[in-house]
Amino acid sequence: MAGRAHVVVIGNEKGGSGKTTVAMHLAVGLLRLGFRVGSIDLDHRQQSLGRYIANRQAWVERSGVTLPMPRVGVVQPSANDLKSGAIAEDRTAFDTVLAELNQTSDFVVVDCPGADAPLARHAHTHADTLITPINDSLLDLDLLGQLDPVTRELKRSGIYANLVWELRQERRKLHKSGIDWVVTRSRLSALVDRNKLMMAEVLPQMQRILGFRLADGFGERVIYRYMFLWGLTVLDLEQAGIGMEITKSHQSAREEVCSLLANLWLPRVSERLGRL
Ligand SMILES: Nc1ncnc2c1ncn2[C@@H]1O[C@H](COP(=O)(O)OP(=O)(O)OP(=O)(O)O)[C@@H](O)[C@H]1O
Ligand SMILES: [Mg+2]
Repeated sequence: MAGRAHVVVIGNEKGGSGKTTVAMHLAVGLLRLGFRVGSIDLDHRQQSLGRYIANRQAWVERSGVTLPMPRVGVVQPSANDLKSGAIAEDRTAFDTVLAELNQTSDFVVVDCPGADAPLARHAHTHADTLITPINDSLLDLDLLGQLDPVTRELKRSGIYANLVWELRQERRKLHKSGIDWVVTRSRLSALVDRNKLMMAEVLPQMQRILGFRLADGFGERVIYRYMFLWGLTVLDLEQAGIGMEITKSHQSAREEVCSLLANLWLPRVSERLGRL
C-alpha cells in the first residue's frame, strides 16, 4: 500500500456516540496487527483523540512500557477571517497532512467532531471506510432516518444519511470511488428493553435503503472510559507491565474490538487477526 493509505473516517453529527472511543481502539488494533497507522483529530475544540494519544505517549515515557503509537497528523485550523477563505485553507491543510501520512501509513484514522463542520465534510470525501457509531436510541437514529411510529417504516432519510449520500456523490466525482459505510450500535446495554428491540428491528431494514451496513459495536462497559488517562485501550491490557487484573468484562470488550476489526473488511486485516 505504498503511497496510499486506506482512510477510515469515524463520523456522526450526533455528539457523544462513541466516535473517539472507536477511533482510538481501531488505531491501536491496527497497530497491534502490525500496520502503520496515522491519525487525524478533526475535533479542534475538544481534541479528545489527540489528548488520548498524548496521554498514551506520556504514559509510555513514565512507565517505560513500550506501546505501539500512531503517527499524529495535525491539521491547524485556518486563522482566515473570511469564512470561504478559512474553509479553503482548512481543506488544503487537511490534504497536505493526509498526503504526508499516506507516505508513512497503511491506515489513516480520522476522528470527526460531533457536529456538522466543513472540514469533517471534506474528510468524508476521502473516506474509503466510514464508521458511524450510534447510541442505541431512537432519538439518535433520527439522524439516519425518520420512522413512522405505527408502521415502523422509514418515512424519509435523516440529515446525516442525506449528507453521506451527498458526499458519496462528491467522492465519486473527485476520487472515482465509493465509501464503505458501516454503522455500529454503540454502548449497548446488557438489558433487553423496548428501545433495544425496536432498534434491532428497524436498523436492518434501513441499511438496505440508506446504503450502509451494520456491524456490532461496543457494549456499555466501564473499561472503555476508564483508560483514557493512561492512553490505553482494552487491547493493551494483556501487555506485560500494564499490571491490570483482567476480568471477564475486559475479555468481552476485547472480543468486541476484534469483532469490529473483522467486520470492517479492511484490506489485509482478516489474515492478521490471529495476532491479537
Ligand atoms: N462502549 C462504551 N462504554 C462505556 N462508555 C463509553 C463507551 N463508548 C464511549 N463511552 C463514553 O461515552 C462518552 C462519549 O464517548 P466518545 O467521546 O468516544 O464519543 P464521541 O462520539 O467521540 O463524542 P463527541 O461527539 O463529543 O466527539 C465518553 O465519556 C466515553 O468515555
Ligand atoms: Mg469525539
